[in-house]
Amino acid sequence: MSKRVILTGIRANNDLTIGNYLGALLPIVDMAKERAGEYRVNLFVPDLHSFTTPIDHSQLQAQIMQNLRVFAAAGLPLDHDDVHIYRQSYIPAHSELTWILDCFTGMGEMGRMTQFKDKSAKLSEDRISVGLFNYPVLMAADILLYNASYVPVGEDQTQHLEFTRDIATRMNNQFGELLTVPLPVPKQHEFFGKEQGLRIKDLQDPTKKMSKSDETGKGVVFMSDKPEDAAKKVMSATTDSVNKISFDPKNQPGITNLLQIMALLSGRSQQEVNAEWEGKERYGDFKNAVAEVVSAFMLQFQSTLATVDDGAILQKLQHSEAVMNETANATLLRVQKAVGLR
Ligand code: TRP
Repeated sequence: MSKRVILTGIRANNDLTIGNYLGALLPIVDMAKERAGEYRVNLFVPDLHSFTTPIDHSQLQAQIMQNLRVFAAAGLPLDHDDVHIYRQSYIPAHSELTWILDCFTGMGEMGRMTQFKDKSAKLSEDRISVGLFNYPVLMAADILLYNASYVPVGEDQTQHLEFTRDIATRMNNQFGELLTVPLPVPKQHEFFGKEQGLRIKDLQDPTKKMSKSDETGKGVVFMSDKPEDAAKKVMSATTDSVNKISFDPKNQPGITNLLQIMALLSGRSQQEVNAEWEGKERYGDFKNAVAEVVSAFMLQFQSTLATVDDGAILQKLQHSEAVMNETANATLLRVQKAVGLR
Protein backbone atom coordinates (compact mmCIF):
# COMPACT_ATOMS: atom_id res chain seq x y z
CA MET A 1 0.00 0.00 0.00
CA SER A 2 1.52 3.34 -0.97
CA LYS A 3 1.45 6.30 1.36
CA ARG A 4 -1.58 8.53 1.45
CA VAL A 5 -1.02 11.87 -0.21
CA ILE A 6 -1.56 15.32 1.27
CA LEU A 7 -1.57 17.91 -1.49
CA THR A 8 -2.08 21.59 -2.01
CA GLY A 9 -1.31 24.31 -4.54
CA ILE A 10 -0.58 27.93 -3.77
CA ARG A 11 -1.03 30.33 -6.65
CA ALA A 12 1.74 32.61 -7.80
CA ASN A 13 -0.09 35.34 -9.70
CA ASN A 14 0.78 37.91 -7.12
CA ASP A 15 2.78 38.33 -4.00
CA LEU A 16 1.71 36.05 -1.13
CA THR A 17 -0.17 37.62 1.77
CA ILE A 18 -0.12 36.80 5.47
CA GLY A 19 -3.56 35.33 4.78
CA ASN A 20 -2.06 32.77 2.39
CA TYR A 21 0.77 32.19 4.78
CA LEU A 22 -1.38 31.52 7.82
CA GLY A 23 -4.37 29.88 6.13
CA ALA A 24 -2.74 27.75 3.47
CA LEU A 25 1.01 27.52 3.85
CA LEU A 26 1.59 27.03 7.56
CA PRO A 27 -0.91 24.16 7.93
CA ILE A 28 0.77 22.18 5.16
CA VAL A 29 4.25 23.01 6.40
CA ASP A 30 3.25 21.77 9.84
CA MET A 31 1.89 18.58 8.28
CA ALA A 32 5.13 18.13 6.37
CA LYS A 33 7.19 18.61 9.50
CA GLU A 34 5.10 16.31 11.64
CA ARG A 35 3.67 13.66 9.32
CA ALA A 36 5.97 13.28 6.29
CA GLY A 37 7.15 9.69 6.30
CA GLU A 38 3.69 8.53 7.25
CA TYR A 39 2.22 10.56 4.35
CA ARG A 40 3.55 11.99 1.14
CA VAL A 41 3.26 15.79 1.07
CA ASN A 42 2.96 17.61 -2.27
CA LEU A 43 3.13 21.39 -2.31
CA PHE A 44 3.07 22.83 -5.79
CA VAL A 45 2.86 26.11 -7.65
CA PRO A 46 -0.21 26.03 -9.93
CA ASP A 47 1.44 28.21 -12.53
CA LEU A 48 -1.09 27.29 -15.23
CA HIS A 49 -3.80 28.66 -12.96
CA SER A 50 -2.12 32.02 -12.65
CA PHE A 51 -3.41 33.72 -15.77
CA THR A 52 -7.03 32.61 -15.89
CA THR A 53 -7.55 36.33 -15.34
CA PRO A 54 -5.11 38.78 -17.00
CA ILE A 55 -1.68 39.27 -15.37
CA ASP A 56 1.64 40.90 -16.16
CA HIS A 57 3.42 37.96 -17.75
CA SER A 58 6.85 39.54 -17.47
CA GLN A 59 6.63 39.00 -13.70
CA LEU A 60 5.43 35.40 -13.62
CA GLN A 61 8.78 33.59 -13.58
CA ALA A 62 10.07 35.76 -10.75
CA GLN A 63 6.85 35.24 -8.78
CA ILE A 64 6.98 31.48 -9.14
CA MET A 65 10.52 31.43 -7.79
CA GLN A 66 9.62 33.82 -5.01
CA ASN A 67 6.73 31.60 -3.92
CA LEU A 68 9.02 28.62 -3.76
CA ARG A 69 11.44 30.59 -1.60
CA VAL A 70 8.57 31.47 0.70
CA PHE A 71 7.73 27.76 1.03
CA ALA A 72 11.31 27.12 2.12
CA ALA A 73 11.44 30.10 4.47
CA ALA A 74 8.20 28.94 6.11
CA GLY A 75 10.07 25.84 7.15
CA LEU A 76 9.06 23.24 4.59
CA PRO A 77 11.53 20.39 5.09
CA LEU A 78 13.04 20.20 1.62
CA ASP A 79 15.44 17.45 2.61
CA HIS A 80 12.63 14.99 3.33
CA ASP A 81 12.09 12.30 0.67
CA ASP A 82 8.31 12.38 1.11
CA VAL A 83 8.05 16.14 0.67
CA HIS A 84 7.73 17.39 -2.90
CA ILE A 85 7.68 20.82 -4.46
CA TYR A 86 6.92 21.30 -8.13
CA ARG A 87 5.59 23.58 -10.79
CA GLN A 88 2.36 22.41 -12.36
CA SER A 89 3.40 23.28 -15.92
CA TYR A 90 6.50 21.08 -15.64
CA ILE A 91 4.24 18.05 -15.44
CA PRO A 92 2.41 18.01 -18.79
CA ALA A 93 -0.05 15.39 -17.53
CA HIS A 94 -1.97 18.18 -15.76
CA SER A 95 -2.93 19.72 -19.08
CA GLU A 96 -3.61 16.39 -20.73
CA LEU A 97 -5.85 15.05 -17.98
CA THR A 98 -7.68 18.38 -17.88
CA TRP A 99 -8.66 18.02 -21.52
CA ILE A 100 -10.01 14.53 -20.98
CA LEU A 101 -11.93 15.56 -17.85
CA ASP A 102 -13.27 18.61 -19.69
CA CYS A 103 -15.14 16.26 -21.96
CA PHE A 104 -16.90 14.66 -18.98
CA THR A 105 -17.78 17.97 -17.34
CA GLY A 106 -21.02 19.86 -17.86
CA MET A 107 -21.19 23.53 -18.81
CA GLY A 108 -23.90 23.95 -16.18
CA GLU A 109 -21.81 22.53 -13.40
CA MET A 110 -18.92 24.88 -14.17
CA GLY A 111 -21.23 27.86 -14.55
CA ARG A 112 -22.54 27.27 -11.02
CA MET A 113 -19.13 27.60 -9.37
CA THR A 114 -19.26 30.62 -7.09
CA GLN A 115 -15.61 31.55 -7.65
CA PHE A 116 -16.29 31.69 -11.39
CA LYS A 117 -19.40 33.73 -10.85
CA ASP A 118 -17.59 36.19 -8.57
CA LYS A 119 -14.54 36.60 -10.74
CA SER A 120 -16.36 36.74 -14.05
CA ALA A 121 -18.83 39.31 -12.70
CA LYS A 122 -15.96 41.80 -12.67
CA LEU A 123 -15.06 41.23 -16.32
CA SER A 124 -16.77 42.01 -19.59
CA GLU A 125 -17.99 38.96 -21.51
CA ASP A 126 -15.08 38.95 -23.94
CA ARG A 127 -12.51 39.09 -21.19
CA ILE A 128 -13.87 36.11 -19.28
CA SER A 129 -11.48 33.41 -20.40
CA VAL A 130 -12.38 29.81 -21.04
CA GLY A 131 -9.51 29.11 -18.65
CA LEU A 132 -11.35 30.85 -15.84
CA PHE A 133 -14.41 28.80 -16.68
CA ASN A 134 -12.69 25.43 -16.49
CA TYR A 135 -10.27 26.38 -13.73
CA PRO A 136 -11.90 23.75 -11.44
CA VAL A 137 -11.23 20.98 -13.98
CA LEU A 138 -7.51 21.74 -13.96
CA MET A 139 -7.69 21.79 -10.20
CA ALA A 140 -9.36 18.38 -10.20
CA ALA A 141 -6.56 17.08 -12.42
CA ASP A 142 -4.00 18.53 -9.97
CA ILE A 143 -5.50 16.46 -7.21
CA LEU A 144 -6.45 13.27 -9.05
CA LEU A 145 -3.13 12.75 -10.86
CA TYR A 146 -1.41 12.09 -7.53
CA ASN A 147 -4.21 10.04 -5.95
CA ALA A 148 -4.39 12.63 -3.20
CA SER A 149 -6.69 11.98 -0.26
CA TYR A 150 -6.11 15.09 1.79
CA VAL A 151 -6.42 18.59 0.41
CA PRO A 152 -6.68 21.49 2.84
CA VAL A 153 -9.50 23.66 1.55
CA GLY A 154 -10.58 27.07 2.63
CA GLU A 155 -14.17 28.14 2.20
CA ASP A 156 -13.55 29.53 -1.26
CA GLN A 157 -12.25 26.19 -2.53
CA THR A 158 -14.77 23.76 -1.06
CA GLN A 159 -16.92 23.72 -4.18
CA HIS A 160 -13.86 22.87 -6.24
CA LEU A 161 -13.00 19.97 -4.00
CA GLU A 162 -16.57 18.74 -4.20
CA PHE A 163 -16.38 18.94 -7.96
CA THR A 164 -13.14 16.93 -7.85
CA ARG A 165 -14.96 14.23 -5.93
CA ASP A 166 -17.88 14.33 -8.37
CA ILE A 167 -15.78 14.02 -11.51
CA ALA A 168 -13.65 11.25 -9.98
CA THR A 169 -16.73 9.33 -8.93
CA ARG A 170 -18.32 9.86 -12.35
CA MET A 171 -15.23 8.48 -14.11
CA ASN A 172 -15.07 5.53 -11.72
CA ASN A 173 -18.75 4.74 -12.30
CA GLN A 174 -18.31 4.76 -16.03
CA PHE A 175 -14.89 3.10 -16.32
CA GLY A 176 -14.32 1.12 -13.11
CA GLU A 177 -11.85 1.87 -10.33
CA LEU A 178 -9.75 4.51 -11.99
CA LEU A 179 -9.20 7.49 -9.71
CA THR A 180 -8.76 8.02 -5.97
CA VAL A 181 -11.64 10.11 -4.65
CA PRO A 182 -10.33 12.69 -2.14
CA LEU A 183 -12.06 12.75 1.24
CA PRO A 184 -15.17 14.90 1.64
CA VAL A 185 -14.82 18.41 3.04
CA PRO A 186 -15.87 17.63 6.66
CA LYS A 187 -13.24 14.86 6.79
CA GLN A 188 -10.67 17.29 5.47
CA HIS A 189 -11.49 19.67 8.29
CA GLU A 190 -11.20 16.84 10.78
CA PHE A 191 -7.82 15.87 9.43
CA PHE A 192 -6.26 19.30 9.22
CA GLY A 193 -7.83 20.74 12.34
CA LYS A 194 -9.44 24.10 12.73
CA GLU A 195 -6.61 26.17 11.30
CA GLN A 196 -7.03 25.01 7.75
CA GLY A 197 -10.45 26.55 7.24
CA LEU A 198 -9.15 29.72 8.70
CA ARG A 199 -9.26 32.76 6.55
CA ILE A 200 -7.57 35.96 7.53
CA LYS A 201 -9.80 38.85 6.56
CA ASP A 202 -9.04 42.04 4.68
CA LEU A 203 -7.98 44.76 7.13
CA GLN A 204 -10.08 47.42 5.42
CA ASP A 205 -13.13 45.23 4.88
CA PRO A 206 -13.08 42.46 7.48
CA THR A 207 -16.19 40.87 6.02
CA LYS A 208 -14.16 39.59 3.07
CA LYS A 209 -11.12 37.38 2.80
CA MET A 210 -7.67 38.95 2.59
CA SER A 211 -6.95 38.39 -1.06
CA LYS A 212 -3.81 38.92 -3.07
CA SER A 213 -5.86 39.90 -6.10
CA ASP A 214 -7.35 42.86 -4.25
CA GLU A 215 -6.52 45.92 -6.35
CA THR A 216 -5.77 48.55 -3.72
CA GLY A 217 -3.72 46.35 -1.38
CA LYS A 218 -4.55 48.66 1.54
CA GLY A 219 -6.18 45.98 3.62
CA VAL A 220 -3.73 43.30 2.55
CA VAL A 221 -0.39 42.55 4.21
CA PHE A 222 1.99 41.08 1.68
CA MET A 223 4.84 38.88 2.82
CA SER A 224 7.21 41.30 1.08
CA ASP A 225 5.83 44.47 2.69
CA LYS A 226 8.32 46.52 4.66
CA PRO A 227 7.70 45.83 8.36
CA GLU A 228 6.81 49.48 8.96
CA ASP A 229 4.33 49.50 6.07
CA ALA A 230 2.71 46.34 7.39
CA ALA A 231 2.43 48.00 10.79
CA LYS A 232 0.76 51.03 9.20
CA LYS A 233 -1.81 48.83 7.49
CA VAL A 234 -2.65 47.29 10.85
CA MET A 235 -2.97 50.71 12.46
CA SER A 236 -5.51 51.78 9.86
CA ALA A 237 -7.52 48.55 10.03
CA THR A 238 -11.28 48.90 10.17
CA THR A 239 -12.71 48.03 13.58
CA ASP A 240 -16.13 48.90 14.98
CA SER A 241 -17.87 51.21 17.40
CA VAL A 242 -18.55 48.66 20.13
CA ASN A 243 -15.55 50.01 22.03
CA LYS A 244 -14.87 46.79 23.82
CA ILE A 245 -12.58 44.08 22.57
CA SER A 246 -14.13 40.68 22.19
CA PHE A 247 -13.55 37.63 20.01
CA ASP A 248 -16.80 37.78 18.08
CA PRO A 249 -16.48 37.06 14.35
CA LYS A 250 -20.10 38.00 13.72
CA ASN A 251 -20.41 41.35 15.44
CA GLN A 252 -16.76 42.41 15.62
CA PRO A 253 -15.10 40.93 12.55
CA GLY A 254 -12.30 43.53 12.43
CA ILE A 255 -11.26 43.11 16.06
CA THR A 256 -11.58 39.33 15.81
CA ASN A 257 -9.38 39.29 12.75
CA LEU A 258 -6.70 41.25 14.59
CA LEU A 259 -6.92 38.91 17.59
CA GLN A 260 -6.36 35.97 15.26
CA ILE A 261 -3.48 37.61 13.47
CA MET A 262 -1.89 38.36 16.80
CA ALA A 263 -2.18 34.81 18.07
CA LEU A 264 -1.02 33.13 14.90
CA LEU A 265 1.95 35.38 14.20
CA SER A 266 3.20 35.34 17.76
CA GLY A 267 2.76 31.59 18.11
CA ARG A 268 0.56 32.03 21.19
CA SER A 269 -2.78 30.28 21.61
CA GLN A 270 -5.97 32.13 20.77
CA GLN A 271 -7.24 31.65 24.31
CA GLU A 272 -4.16 33.26 25.78
CA VAL A 273 -4.36 36.28 23.47
CA ASN A 274 -8.09 36.66 24.04
CA ALA A 275 -7.62 36.47 27.80
CA GLU A 276 -5.08 39.26 27.59
CA TRP A 277 -7.24 41.62 25.53
CA GLU A 278 -10.93 40.81 25.88
CA GLY A 279 -12.89 43.40 27.80
CA LYS A 280 -10.34 46.15 27.16
CA GLU A 281 -11.60 49.32 25.58
CA ARG A 282 -8.65 51.05 24.03
CA TYR A 283 -8.52 49.95 20.44
CA GLY A 284 -5.45 52.14 19.87
CA ASP A 285 -3.35 50.23 22.37
CA PHE A 286 -4.56 46.96 20.94
CA LYS A 287 -3.76 47.95 17.37
CA ASN A 288 -0.33 49.09 18.46
CA ALA A 289 0.33 45.71 20.02
CA VAL A 290 -0.88 43.86 16.91
CA ALA A 291 1.19 46.14 14.67
CA GLU A 292 4.23 45.33 16.75
CA VAL A 293 3.64 41.58 16.45
CA VAL A 294 3.13 41.91 12.70
CA SER A 295 6.25 43.97 12.10
CA ALA A 296 8.39 41.72 14.32
CA PHE A 297 7.14 38.72 12.38
CA MET A 298 7.84 40.37 9.02
CA LEU A 299 11.33 41.33 10.08
CA GLN A 300 12.13 37.82 11.22
CA PHE A 301 10.51 36.13 8.22
CA GLN A 302 12.20 38.38 5.70
CA SER A 303 15.61 37.79 7.20
CA THR A 304 15.02 34.04 6.95
CA LEU A 305 13.83 34.51 3.37
CA ALA A 306 17.03 36.34 2.47
CA THR A 307 19.07 33.30 3.49
CA VAL A 308 17.11 30.78 1.39
CA ASP A 309 19.40 28.90 -0.94
CA ASP A 310 18.06 29.04 -4.52
CA GLY A 311 20.38 26.23 -5.54
CA ALA A 312 18.79 23.89 -3.01
CA ILE A 313 15.32 24.82 -4.27
CA LEU A 314 16.25 24.20 -7.90
CA GLN A 315 17.79 20.88 -7.06
CA LYS A 316 14.72 19.81 -5.10
CA LEU A 317 12.44 20.96 -7.93
CA GLN A 318 14.33 18.91 -10.44
CA HIS A 319 14.13 15.81 -8.34
CA SER A 320 10.48 16.28 -7.34
CA GLU A 321 9.39 17.07 -10.87
CA ALA A 322 10.98 13.86 -12.15
CA VAL A 323 9.22 11.80 -9.48
CA MET A 324 5.93 13.65 -9.99
CA ASN A 325 6.02 13.07 -13.72
CA GLU A 326 6.23 9.34 -13.06
CA THR A 327 3.27 9.32 -10.68
CA ALA A 328 1.18 11.63 -12.83
CA ASN A 329 1.93 9.79 -16.06
CA ALA A 330 0.88 6.49 -14.48
CA THR A 331 -2.52 7.97 -13.60
CA LEU A 332 -2.85 9.62 -16.99
CA LEU A 333 -2.11 6.32 -18.73
CA ARG A 334 -4.84 4.56 -16.74
CA VAL A 335 -7.29 7.21 -17.84
CA GLN A 336 -6.09 7.19 -21.44
CA LYS A 337 -6.58 3.43 -21.55
CA ALA A 338 -10.01 3.68 -19.98
CA VAL A 339 -11.27 6.19 -22.53
CA GLY A 340 -9.75 4.29 -25.44
CA LEU A 341 -6.82 6.55 -26.27
CA ARG A 342 -4.32 3.77 -25.54
N1 TRP B 1 -7.41 27.04 -6.50
C1 TRP B 1 -6.48 27.13 -5.41
C2 TRP B 1 -6.51 28.56 -4.87
O1 TRP B 1 -6.98 29.46 -5.45
C3 TRP B 1 -5.10 26.77 -5.84
C4 TRP B 1 -5.03 25.37 -6.35
C5 TRP B 1 -4.86 24.98 -7.63
C6 TRP B 1 -5.16 24.18 -5.59
N2 TRP B 1 -4.85 23.62 -7.73
C7 TRP B 1 -5.04 23.11 -6.51
C8 TRP B 1 -5.36 23.93 -4.23
C9 TRP B 1 -5.15 21.78 -6.08
C10 TRP B 1 -5.46 22.61 -3.82
C11 TRP B 1 -5.35 21.55 -4.74
O2 TRP B 1 -6.00 28.83 -3.81
